[in-house]
Amino acid sequence: MKGIFPIDQFQKLRTPFYYYDTKVLRDTLACIRMETAKYENYFVHYAVKANANPKVLSIIRESGLGADCVSGGEIKAAVKAGFPADKIVFAGVGKADWEIDLALDYGIFCFNVESIPELEVINRLASAKGKVADVAFRINPDVGAHTHANITTGLAENKFGISMEDMDRVIDIAATLEHVRFVGLHFHIGSQIMDMGDFVALCNRVNELQDKLEARRIRIPYINVGGGLGIDYAHPNRQPIPDFGHYFETYDNSLKLRSYQSLHFELGRSVVGQCGSLISRVLYVKQGTRKRFAILDAGMTDLIRPALYQAYHKIENLTSEEETDTYDIVGPICESSDVFGKAIDLNRVSRGDLIAIRSAGAYGEIMASGYNCRELPVGYISDELV
Ligand code: LLP
Repeated sequence: MKGIFPIDQFQKLRTPFYYYDTKVLRDTLACIRMETAKYENYFVHYAVKANANPKVLSIIRESGLGADCVSGGEIKAAVKAGFPADKIVFAGVGKADWEIDLALDYGIFCFNVESIPELEVINRLASAKGKVADVAFRINPDVGAHTHANITTGLAENKFGISMEDMDRVIDIAATLEHVRFVGLHFHIGSQIMDMGDFVALCNRVNELQDKLEARRIRIPYINVGGGLGIDYAHPNRQPIPDFGHYFETYDNSLKLRSYQSLHFELGRSVVGQCGSLISRVLYVKQGTRKRFAILDAGMTDLIRPALYQAYHKIENLTSEEETDTYDIVGPICESSDVFGKAIDLNRVSRGDLIAIRSAGAYGEIMASGYNCRELPVGYISDELV
């Protein structure tokens, strides 16, 4: 063991692979359970898009969370992992007919609808089955989140949701359709949000819309504020569990939930981010003209976040205690953007050393690709490596 990693077990495995520390995951889930229990009408749906590894999903399901899905494939994965259909919400701007049919057949909790044409298709497909689909409208609250431009979703310029001005019109249209029932409003302003002020801004918008609904004497049982709570990428050991207490308290203080309403969350990154690491081996140490490179057997095909979002992940050498040197840590893929970190200080690196890229549990394994005909990385949970 070095710190929290079973190095001896790692040495026997083919790299690269994902490693999920189930203690961190279970502690995180216990914290979510404890903090939401303070409010009897708060419900968390795990955003399956963050990590759909079946072993991870099944631990999350055991904790009692629902699921937030954005494709038919995710709905199937959630059902297979045992999530009850009536705790599944289905979001996404481009739901295909077969995906809507699948969700209707399972009898999911609610569709998060993003446009009028989509509403009409759901109505038609539900009618063909003699069913009525519960729908929430995803409203674009035009709230900017202080996070990376590629992962903000709540601005008017984004493709997501229905604008606040159009809300009344969409509600009127829904009232004319017999096979959809308008039950809620849905929002999501972005991901990796660390500033609780952004969520307060969202709450203020929701309050405004709720007042408009009340003025029209429309009662909806359900408000869904999406996900977005960030994690501490710089200090995965110091803060393995995000501050869920402060997060839920922010909503409790700022959102004027009606007594007949429940509040739903769709958390992804904050649930699984810190429990996962990408484990890889050093293939070569190469001295360039001005830089020293540590070339890993993991690349951007295994973890694309640094290449795609210039995301920072803490990198550690698990098998060296030597003095530190400075390296650019790169992968083997034929792309200049295949870089995990530049000018990183690591305990001196040699061929064969095991490297951990931390905080990779969310949007890591699930975003892996087979580019360069590479195999997809395997994911192990700590329970199976003892
Ligand atoms: N609900 C909706 C409607 C979403 O679009 C998302 C994430 C979530 C919930 C979950 O958000 P979370 O709690 O994980 O922040 N691949 C990017 C992140 C994309 C997030 C997409 N939507 C990354 O690696 O940073």
